Amino acid sequence: MEPRYALLTGASSGIGLAIAHMLPQLGYTVCGIGRSFPQDIPSSPSFLPICLDLTRTGELAARVRELRREMPFSLLINNAGVGYFGLHEELNPAKIHEMTTVNLEVPMLLTHLLLRDLKKEKGMIINISSVTAKQSSPHGCAYGATKAALSAFSASLFDEVRKYGVRAAAIHPDMTRTRFYRNADFTADPAQDASLSPQDVASAVRFLLTAPPDCAVTDITLRPQKHRIQRKPQNNL
Ligand SMILES: NC(=O)c1ccc[n+]([C@@H]2O[C@H](COP(=O)([O-])OP(=O)(O)OC[C@H]3O[C@@H](n4cnc5c(N)ncnc54)[C@H](OP(=O)(O)O)[C@@H]3O)[C@@H](O)[C@H]2O)c1
Repeated sequence: MEPRYALLTGASSGIGLAIAHMLPQLGYTVCGIGRSFPQDIPSSPSFLPICLDLTRTGELAARVRELRREMPFSLLINNAGVGYFGLHEELNPAKIHEMTTVNLEVPMLLTHLLLRDLKKEKGMIINISSVTAKQSSPHGCAYGATKAALSAFSASLFDEVRKYGVRAAAIHPDMTRTRFYRNADFTADPAQDASLSPQDVASAVRFLLTAPPDCAVTDITLRPQKHRIQRKPQNNL
């Protein structure tokens, strides 16, 4: 099998870590970007952790230009994301900027940097969006807006690149059991069927990558069977 290379953002925890564990099973060598990787991450030739703050977009672009000289990427997964919730007038402008950069600008920038390679490789771009992209998100107006824009970008991109054999898809997960809500006053309900696991999202990525090449799946929505969240006690905020 030809070596295949994937660039994955947000590979250091949650959904991204689950995807990083799954991709080598499909023959990918993964360049995974994050800021702090767990100490016990298994060292493997098929996983290259890259410590980088995505908000430093100049540094990011320079690093990706270096990497693509060594690796013909055939897969880009824009997974890194950050969410801050609450009344919009109470949201710190720096957090609005951070969400816009990490959730939207970085996926568009990485796509721009890798698209020529992806066309050569007839590769794929997967954007980890959110169900919030498809619905109104009071107390998450800015986060929801970044995800709606990411999904719109993904849909337009598919129409732009499909004739080159490149596929683009957005996955829209609902509440997933990760550290994502550490800054929120709510979290996943502990019942197993009230939230998704990171592995459920990794399975959707696997589904996209193993679909027949002539059948482009462009949009997947994943929801837990039950719809329930839990308020955190005030002293846990
Ligand atoms: N959990 C959910 O319920 C849920 C639902 C729908 C969609 N999503 C989406 O799923 C994606 C993954 O989130 P998750 O649930 O797995 O949350 P998570 O465990 O908090 O993971 C977020 C990842 O993004 C990385 N990241 C964030 N800001 C970064 C920055 N400035 N520079 C470098 N890396 C950065 C984090 O790296 P470090 O920790 O190393 O900084 C981490 O690897 C996000 O796009 C999120 O919007 C999550």
